[in-house]
Amino acid sequence: MLPPILQNLRIPVVASPMFIVSGPDLVIAQCKAGIVGSFPALNAREKDGDPIQLEAWLTRITEELDRHNQANPDRPAAPFAVNQIVHRSNARLERDIEICHRHRVPIWITSLGARTEVNAAAHDCGAIALHDIINNVFAKKAIEKGADGLIAVAAGAGGHAGPQSPFALIQEIRDWFNGPLLLSGAIATGRAILAARAMGADLAYIGSPFIATEEANAPAEYKDMIVESDAMDIVTSSLFTGVSGNYLAPSIRNAGLDPEALAHADASSMDFGQGSSKPKAWSTIWGSGQGIGAVREIQPAGQLVDRLAGEYAAAKAELSSM
Ligand SMILES: Cc1cc2nc3c(=O)[nH]c(=O)nc-3n(C[C@H](O)[C@H](O)[C@H](O)COP(=O)(O)O)c2cc1C
Repeated sequence: MLPPILQNLRIPVVASPMFIVSGPDLVIAQCKAGIVGSFPALNAREKDGDPIQLEAWLTRITEELDRHNQANPDRPAAPFAVNQIVHRSNARLERDIEICHRHRVPIWITSLGARTEVNAAAHDCGAIALHDIINNVFAKKAIEKGADGLIAVAAGAGGHAGPQSPFALIQEIRDWFNGPLLLSGAIATGRAILAARAMGADLAYIGSPFIATEEANAPAEYKDMIVESDAMDIVTSSLFTGVSGNYLAPSIRNAGLDPEALAHADASSMDFGQGSSKPKAWSTIWGSGQGIGAVREIQPAGQLVDRLAGEYAAAKAELSSM
């Protein structure tokens, strides 16, 4: 059984948090369209001495979704989630947790480290905590530390993807875990959402296709590259952040590097002090998962969700008629 907060979505989808790309405009559009929207807390930054941006974002998202719900009681917005990077280099973690707790953020997504006190803070304000993992060992640790649900990040995902096939990863986790299980990695169609559920996941966790939406905070060239590229254009490299991640090869070529001959870097270079462990010098090296062959245009996020919902219904009907 899914927790009530995840039960009444239009389609079983959580939009994943993406560094820089996901902000209030995208989150509000995703939630109004009926799927969980999310953003990394570290995307909300202010200059020294300015009011705290995370407070402003949470107030705006909550108020706009409340207004939407009052005007549209028949199709209320889905809840939203905030992502915390639980890495020792994230100096803002404690402050951001206090703010999310005070604003009663309903869904907490944690990455890069499972911590009992973060899960306890989520539970204390009535929220659920979902932790992302790339293998079964990390999955067990996350649940031991009090996470309510798991996000299995399989091969082909944007950002710090795991190396494992989704079939292997979901099967091993479902062997012992009955709670909320999300699957990510190259999911970009309604058929793929249905496939995730057939495999044993409850919900699909989708990122890269939302980069090519009007509300995404991404340069036009990045959005165009998502539309023009497919799985063959995605390369895996540890060079840019110290951990293996998936990137658009054309953006690597544009930066004067050969995507086929990138050096390796190790995890000791990870530093989330600035929100990402990717140095500023590589800010035009753009991340993406392998599913973007299904993304053919830049459109409002609501229209992308409409496409996914239409395809999901058609895929279900097609399978059940077989
Ligand atoms: C550009 C980009 C930035 C990302 N930034 C984050 C982040 O800040 N925090 C996080 O937990 N995951 C981040 N991710 C990973 C996503 O949350 C998610 O796991 C991934 O997008 C799913 O795969 P897909 O892109 O193939 O749908 C990022 C992914 C991309 C493509």
